[in-house]
Amino acid sequence: MNILDALRIRFEPVLAEWTDDPSSVIEMLKASQDAKFGDYQANFAMPLAAKLEGVKPRDLAVQIADKVDLSDFCEPLEVAGPGFINIKLKQDWLEGLTQQLVADERLGVSVTESPQKVIVDFSAPNVAKPMHVGHLRSSVIGDANYRVLKFLGHAVVGDNHIGDWGTQFGMIIFGYKHFLDEEAFQQSSVTELARLYRLVNQLSDYHANKNTVPTLQNEIEQLEDKLKTLEETIDQSDKKAQKQLKKLKSDIGERKSELTSMQEKLVELEQNEDLNSKAIAFPEIARLARDETAKLHAGDAENLELWKQFLPECLDAIQVVYDRLDIHFDLTLGESYYQPMLADVVADLKQKGLAQESQGAICVFAEGLKAPSIVQKQDGAFTYATTDLATIKYRVEELNADRILYVVDSRQSEHFQLLFATVKQWGFTDLELQHVSFGTILGKNKRPYKTRSGDTVGLESLLDESIQRAYTIVTKNDEAKRDGPELNETERQQIAESVGLGGIKYADLKHNRDSDYVFDWDKMLANRGDTATYMQYAYARVCGIFRKGNIDREALRTEQSLLQLTEESERALALQINRYSETLESVAIEARPNYLTNYLFELANLFSTFYNDENCQVLKAEDKEVKTSRLLLCDLTASVIEHGLSLLGIRTCERM
Ligand code: ARG
Repeated sequence: MNILDALRIRFEPVLAEWTDDPSSVIEMLKASQDAKFGDYQANFAMPLAAKLEGVKPRDLAVQIADKVDLSDFCEPLEVAGPGFINIKLKQDWLEGLTQQLVADERLGVSVTESPQKVIVDFSAPNVAKPMHVGHLRSSVIGDANYRVLKFLGHAVVGDNHIGDWGTQFGMIIFGYKHFLDEEAFQQSSVTELARLYRLVNQLSDYHANKNTVPTLQNEIEQLEDKLKTLEETIDQSDKKAQKQLKKLKSDIGERKSELTSMQEKLVELEQNEDLNSKAIAFPEIARLARDETAKLHAGDAENLELWKQFLPECLDAIQVVYDRLDIHFDLTLGESYYQPMLADVVADLKQKGLAQESQGAICVFAEGLKAPSIVQKQDGAFTYATTDLATIKYRVEELNADRILYVVDSRQSEHFQLLFATVKQWGFTDLELQHVSFGTILGKNKRPYKTRSGDTVGLESLLDESIQRAYTIVTKNDEAKRDGPELNETERQQIAESVGLGGIKYADLKHNRDSDYVFDWDKMLANRGDTATYMQYAYARVCGIFRKGNIDREALRTEQSLLQLTEESERALALQINRYSETLESVAIEARPNYLTNYLFELANLFSTFYNDENCQVLKAEDKEVKTSRLLLCDLTASVIEHGLSLLGIRTCERM
């Protein structure tokens, strides 16, 4: 049962007496931050009173409290401070509710009464390049949302909208035509294709950098001149000028280090005989690769044949990563799938008067937005936006979508703003569209996370490293056990896998997704604190209690004794367990898995308090009924942790 909802449903009609729009304030009824203010607290008397003349918030709070009837499951309401309404659940009611959970496979979470068809558009790498750390967030956040929505009873379609039609294919095709290592290709085509991609990229970068060097040098000279003049004329007491001076110096420093690293890269390539001769042979490589893409898009038979040959290989390669991460999609309809529909999309937009020609390109000017959205470029090519429009049409008309979540980097937020505005005007007014945006993974230097040599971090090697580190920790912990090690080699490896992968996922999910976060191995795999490992340990600890007490969990659940929440720590734990439902509901609405990680962390902490409470002996409890009741709380805690982690795509182990 969703307690929060049950409370809000009772309050809403009462609030209607003082406001036309109770739903706008009802969210101010929340779980209390502190048990001394009750289990839930409502703060809406303050904003409501502010809008009414001559009404004191506290008086209003008293009136609201008098009107709402919660006597069937709450203690009499208390009004505190300037107008807080404190709500405390009745003890016997909470005991009864908790008791019901024991036999409930869904742990109190009911199936939604208004199921939607939800498309979760996530992961979506541009294929043909190996997956890297930048693909982690969309994959993990998308998967967690997918799992939660599905559990709540929505019809969810996970769609991997891969980039399988972009410029990277021109690069590979060019590489294939000029630099192929036949033997390597026979052995592992994906590895060879990835090498070709990197090679062409590297050569293009080389020429681009070579062209940039003089420009950069020029810029530095100009800035240095400016600096010189400023230094000669500066008035020491002029704060503004001082600031300008400082800024100039830092700009110059930045440009210089950029130049140095560029020059180093150039020299590095030139010193490699093979690369250097290739660079000399193809000074126009970037354009040539673009030409190959253009030919592919124009339907050139040879390039299309190559693309058809490469694509399955690319898909196999990303599948390996998804298998390891235990991430599944219902559909993988990449950008190429929509290509045949794009001309019609543009024609339709034109016909409806939404798209117009502007400087040779076809643009949509959505109401209320400054920038236009280009749907066809001057050269006739369709864009990323055109593909997304076609995709939406398809999802609505063929998949009957009610809601689409786009789990995509925050750097694309402008694209989605334009897209959503266009779609509304195009006529899809009932469709709910949500950009589930997220920040960047940073290194300790607060810059995007890279390897020491400055390369992007491959996703597979990241997973390998995490499991390796987890293995070291698991082994060390096991060997330090008081009665000697308990785990055999296979178990250690399995645990290391769950801990390593779980650690990476959890560290990503626990942050407010909008923010950037710093990738930190030590914090991520720590036994204590807000980590997957801590939760996994809590789970294993409960399993340990059952092992030690020789208790069969299934049998325990059928025992006919009543659950009792006498001690403070028992009640707090039980209340938290009962909040699982409202937590998942909030995750689903805002697409924020961190609400679930916060919840689980709090649950694990409350369990720890309960378990360490001298008044809450579990196995040693003297009274049989009390012992059973506490064991049931342990059982529920373990079930919720296990289930909650599974919704985050994280596994648990009975022993660690
Ligand atoms: N492939 C795109 C990228 O790597 C992400 C696609 C996201 N989904 C979408 N429907 N636009 O930037």
